[in-house]
Order: sequence, then structure tokens, then C-alpha cells
Amino acid sequence: MTTTGAAVQLTKSELKLLQSLVYQECGMHFDERRTHFLEDRLQRRLRERQLDSFYSYYRLLISDKGREEFSQLLEDLTVNETSFFRNKAQLDLFHKYILEDLLRQKHETKQHSLKLWSAGCSTGQEPYTMAMLVADGLAYFTLRNPPEALVTFPKPLVPPPWKVEIRASDINYSVLRAAEEGVYSASQMSTVDYNYRLRYFDKVGERYAVKKAVKDIVHFDFHNLKTEYLPQHNDVIFCRNVMMYFDEAEQKRLVEKFARCLNPGGFLFVGHAESLLNLTNAFTMIYRNSGTGYQKVEVPR
Ligand SMILES: C[S@@+](CC[C@H](N)C(=O)[O-])C[C@H]1O[C@@H](n2cnc3c(N)ncnc32)[C@H](O)[C@@H]1O
Repeated sequence: MTTTGAAVQLTKSELKLLQSLVYQECGMHFDERRTHFLEDRLQRRLRERQLDSFYSYYRLLISDKGREEFSQLLEDLTVNETSFFRNKAQLDLFHKYILEDLLRQKHETKQHSLKLWSAGCSTGQEPYTMAMLVADGLAYFTLRNPPEALVTFPKPLVPPPWKVEIRASDINYSVLRAAEEGVYSASQMSTVDYNYRLRYFDKVGERYAVKKAVKDIVHFDFHNLKTEYLPQHNDVIFCRNVMMYFDEAEQKRLVEKFARCLNPGGFLFVGHAESLLNLTNAFTMIYRNSGTGYQKVEVPR
């Protein structure tokens, strides 16, 4: 190819080779139902690189200079669909019951720090939603449990002595850049109600920018969930609509890693179409008003 732009003929075994390389690298599994997607994206990369055979591309990927191309390939292969306040029933469970309890327990033991992680955060709507819910939860909690120290005005998003850190990670550098920028179109804001827009966003022309105070508690970083080096000591992990692209073996490994990344009694939220059923006995399910979450339990070894 590709001077003419014609598609390169790809054999089943070539696609299989790419499939296993991608799986080894990031855990994403392209089974028969998704092979056409893999092939389509591979053709795109071949055109982009002006290569006329799969093997030249494969050689590039596994060469010393292949890292950059691999990131680009992964960017093309990841599905980044997301939205603010996605899965309302689950967020209600988190906000009204779990967070409330967590704040009370932490307050009683005088450990006023909260660590949350959005694993597979895409363009940032999930971690910013978490930040807004935590800010709301904290405001409500401090109203009923006023701090000893004098509160200054304007009231900080995270009132002392509380410390909140929301880590947000993805494997796709482009979505991380957009997330860090934190500016959203009117259609992306359609699931954010007026109250939240007013408190947590600045209107910039036709778009909405996440306020600095919210951005200050969210830290974006590259993390590949396939690796062992992942954020530790979390109270809560959201990993929604990510595991569904992994096969069962990889899902099992990931869930075990999440258990290790959580503090005792910590919480894990997975996507609406995902479940921990038959994957692990390190978690117990919590269900309330159609919202589902999981709590880490101590498993006797
Ligand atoms: C469908 S989005 C889900 C976004 C958000 N969690 C939500 O539910 O709205 C899936 C995200 O997972 C990321 N992802 C896929 N494989 C990953 C991996 N191995 N490590 C880290 N992130 C990954 C993708 O780049 C993508 O942004």
C-alpha cells in the first residue's frame, strides 16, 4: 500500500499476532466479535505510517522505537465513551451511604484523609463527578460536625482538617490531556444539573471549565492496569466500563490487584454491565436502590 491508499490484505494469523501483543501489553482482549474493530484500527495505523505490510508494522512495534507507535495504536484501540454522573443509582449508593459512613468512621478515628482512584478515567468526567460528590458530602458532614478550627470564607472545597486526593489514570495520553484541561461542551454537560454547574464550573464562552478548586484535588497520571505498579492505599476505587474489554483471566488478576490497592474495608465500583461474580472472594457485594458496589473483605489465607 499505501501510496494508493488501498487496504493491506491481512491474514487471520497476522491479526492473532497483533491481538496477543495488545493483550500482553494492556490486557484488552479482541475476541471474534471485535476482530473487525482491531483490523479497522490496524489498517488506519498502516495508512498513517505508510507501511505496506503487516510485518513491517509488527517489526516497528517491537523495535526500540516502537513505544511511541504502541501508545498511538492503543489510543486508537481504546473505547473512551464516558459521561458526568454516569450510572446514577450507583453514584447515589456511593454518595448517600458509603461516603457518609466513610467520613463518619474516619472522623471518629481522627484520620481525616480520603484517597480515591478513578482507574480508566477517560476524558475526566468520572473523577470530576467523584470530586463534586465528595465535596458535597464533606460540606454536609462538616455542617453536622463543625470543625474546632475557625472556618475561613469563602469556605474551601475541602474544609480542614480533611485532605482529599482523587487519582485518575488512563492508558491513553490524549484522553488524559483532555481530562487535565477539564473543559467540556454543552452536550457533554447535559447530565450535569444546574446546581452542580453553578458551584463547580466556570462558563467560558459556550463551554464549561471545571473550577480550579475541583481540579486541585484531582491528579491525572498514566497507569496501565496490566502492570503491578498502581496507586496504593485507596479508600475507594472506581473502575467502570474498563474490565469489560478484558478476558476473564485478566479480570481476575485485575480484581486481585484492586484488593491489594485498597485499604482494609475499602470499596470498589465497577460498570453497570460488569460484575465480580466468579472472579474473586476478596469482595462482598453491596446493593441498594438498584446501585451496586463491592467492599473488600479480609480473606483468610
Ligand atoms: C469506556 S472508558 C470508561 C470511562 C469511565 N470509567 C466511565 O465509566 O465513564 C474505558 C477507559 O479505560 C481505559 N483503559 C483501557 N485499558 C486500560 C488499561 N490497560 N489501563 C488503563 N486504562 C485502560 C481506556 O483508555 C478508556 O479511557
